[in-house]
Amino acid sequence: MMVQRILCFCTIAVLILFNTGVCNSLTQRSSTISSGFSVNITSKLPPKHRSSFIKPTKLDPMSFYLTIWSESIYMAQILIGTPSDTFFVHLDTGSPITWIQDKYCNPCVNNTFPGYDASQSSSVSPIDCDDGFCYVEHVTTACDEYNDCTIELNYLDSTYAKGEYRLESLSFLKSEGGYIRETVPIGFATNTSVRYNDGAVGIMGLSRHSGSFIDLLRVRYLSFCLPTAFTSKVGGLKFGLQADLKGVIVPMIQGDSFYSLNLKSLNFDGQKIDGFGNQNVIFDTGSTMTLVPKNLFDPVLKKILNKYVYLEEVKGALGSRYCNYGSTTPYIPPITWKFQGLEIVSTSKTLFIVYPNGGRPVFCFNIVGTTSNEIIFSSFLMQNINFGIDIGRNLMYIQPNSC
Ligand SMILES: *[C@@H]1O[C@H](CO)[C@@H](O)[C@H](O)[C@H]1NC(C)=O
Ligand SMILES: *[C@@H]1O[C@H](CO)[C@@H](O)[C@H](O)[C@H]1NC(C)=O
Ligand SMILES: *[C@@H]1O[C@H](CO)[C@@H](O)[C@H](O)[C@H]1NC(C)=O
Repeated sequence: MMVQRILCFCTIAVLILFNTGVCNSLTQRSSTISSGFSVNITSKLPPKHRSSFIKPTKLDPMSFYLTIWSESIYMAQILIGTPSDTFFVHLDTGSPITWIQDKYCNPCVNNTFPGYDASQSSSVSPIDCDDGFCYVEHVTTACDEYNDCTIELNYLDSTYAKGEYRLESLSFLKSEGGYIRETVPIGFATNTSVRYNDGAVGIMGLSRHSGSFIDLLRVRYLSFCLPTAFTSKVGGLKFGLQADLKGVIVPMIQGDSFYSLNLKSLNFDGQKIDGFGNQNVIFDTGSTMTLVPKNLFDPVLKKILNKYVYLEEVKGALGSRYCNYGSTTPYIPPITWKFQGLEIVSTSKTLFIVYPNGGRPVFCFNIVGTTSNEIIFSSFLMQNINFGIDIGRNLMYIQPNSC
């Protein structure tokens, strides 16, 4: 999620008995998904009034971190329940669960829109703890006192969402008008630290972990093209036969439920950077920040700081960010990510993210060194690149400049 929220999970699933009978009844209704449809993806516009966002003279690491880590950029509109309410949710290819904030959520962060009121819906039903739906790979599920399924999501940035996990009707608004309706498990958060400032009230999990709706609805093809951030451009999230499978075909990593590729090498300033190669790169639309192994990335950072631009260090939980006040994006040479048969080139425009900061913009380098060996490839670096996923064949199709 835009978040600089890194929507990959820290938790391991609690295994609960899987009842395949129930899942079959869901998947049998999935023909609309296979024939395909397209949903608009929009990026939120830069907020106008953010004077308290970052202190004007000195960066305040705490408030800075709280804000940027809770910012996801890309969202889509969905309808939930009967009669239905419309919500914006952030799109997250790095997590399996779709959830929205419940109207009676407490403690929760105040949102622009009220949360969901399940008591008004005729289509919601609890999920029994023994039911197969109450198992989702990579997520903690549990039982409440009524033997109903509850869910707890813990994100890498230490935010969380907890609440009931229920079957409810979810409608996707099709790009061309009309909608596709499916009954799927959805989390209703009654205790969450996830905050939004763009009107969204939840997250749509798009990973293919078992128990995710991509898995339950047997979505075979998926594509997403994220439009240029902070503009009114529209991109597409496409399911089934409407998915755009075009461009270079790269095999995804076997056995990974994220959408990930093996990195061959990383180049900066005309040089191959030592140590990069053979890392898993997870393509995570739920994160605006790219994470890389710190020890390997430090030489790149040193070179940027020594040779190209002054950046102020802002320490945070997952690593330091480096930021620059100015009126334009700082220039640094491109970073080239090499995959099998394909290069993705990231230029200054996507390597720096701008925070409006009450009229005094701050440009932060959007790659952060961490202790993990995996690479989280952020939504910001995925702008204007079409990603097509053939789930059955485990292939990713990549075509730059094609949203
Ligand atoms: C949410 O808004 C209400 C009413 O404006 C206010 O009383 C409450 O303190 C706010 N809660 C938080 C967590 O900001
Ligand atoms: C999706 O975006 C297109 C292009 O901007 C627009 O014409 C269409 O009305 C949008 N559809 C919906 C459902 O918002
Ligand atoms: C909400 O969740 C947090 C984090 O797990 C926990 O510390 C807190 O006690 C919970 N609050 C309620 C009212 O359940």
